[in-house]
Amino acid sequence: MRATAIAHPNIALVKYWGKRDSVRNLPAAGSISLTLGPLHTRTEVAFTGAQGPDRVELDGEEAEPGAARRVTAVLDLLRHGRPDLGAAHVRSRNDFPTAAGLASSSSGFAALVVAADAAASLGLSPSALSILARRGSGSAARSIFGGFVRMESGVRDDGEDAFARPLAPADHWPLSVCIALTTEGAKKVPSTRGMDHTAQTSPYHHAWIADVDRMLPEAEAIIAARDFDGLARLAEASALRMHASALAADPGVLYWNGATVECMHAVRHLRSQGCPAFFTIDAGPHVKVFCAPASTAAVEEALRCVPGVRDVLHATPAGDARALGTEDR
Ligand code: DP6
Repeated sequence: MRATAIAHPNIALVKYWGKRDSVRNLPAAGSISLTLGPLHTRTEVAFTGAQGPDRVELDGEEAEPGAARRVTAVLDLLRHGRPDLGAAHVRSRNDFPTAAGLASSSSGFAALVVAADAAASLGLSPSALSILARRGSGSAARSIFGGFVRMESGVRDDGEDAFARPLAPADHWPLSVCIALTTEGAKKVPSTRGMDHTAQTSPYHHAWIADVDRMLPEAEAIIAARDFDGLARLAEASALRMHASALAADPGVLYWNGATVECMHAVRHLRSQGCPAFFTIDAGPHVKVFCAPASTAAVEEALRCVPGVRDVLHATPAGDARALGTEDR
């Protein structure tokens, strides 16, 4: 009862920022993302058949109690009706810096549920895996699938219709992503806390959620048509509106530092010079820049010239989360 899986992180083009139910972790609106490699999380799950607490190791260290509890909560859903599985031993590693603001929870919980499903030989469907991953982290529901992915908010109270589905495979549209790691400021506000605080105190929250619903069909059409200028306009608007809603909370949630802002200006300058590039920003100060593959070097050079940029990582569209066969290990 042991299996290993890998999953890739994803970056949202239409952002998820708000929940309709915190207990079942149901998003208030849908979202659209691109799954990115070669970055990945590799997770081994072994069910011991014995009673007792789960053991959770992240990057070779025992997980913090909060992180371990989130893992156990997801495994408990999967173990429901299967007391024979017993306690789990989970070992998970990211091949990218956790501080890179790359939503390591997205690849982490996707790899966890795929490995646990394989270890227990449950044969869950991709939608069921997406629902389980969502319970760990909303963005993880999208990392079950490669390429362009749409997450549904669903309408049911039990969340059985709140899962992700693939829109287009990784090779649908060759895009390149440069991730500018900017100097860390004060410790960031975790996404769960940031989005709950925004929903409770930002006067813009309802307008933001209504706007996401309007953006989703437009984003789907833009992706189907591989319309770069359309995606640039829409993805920047989604990121800036998400942050506008967070900034308007009381007190405002401010994820940016000076280098974050300078990177946005640098990308817009590149675009005004004819270089196809656009930015997006998540719950942290780093800037993710999407561009045409031929422009990767120009984008990287421009980002490295921004004072405060420590490093630039590269990523390209990647595939589904998957269990590894014995020959892959
Ligand atoms: C800004 O998936 O980390 O990256 O469901 O509370 O675990 P929880 O939140 P999480 O939020 C991701 C927020 C975001 C935007 C996005 O990925 O859509």
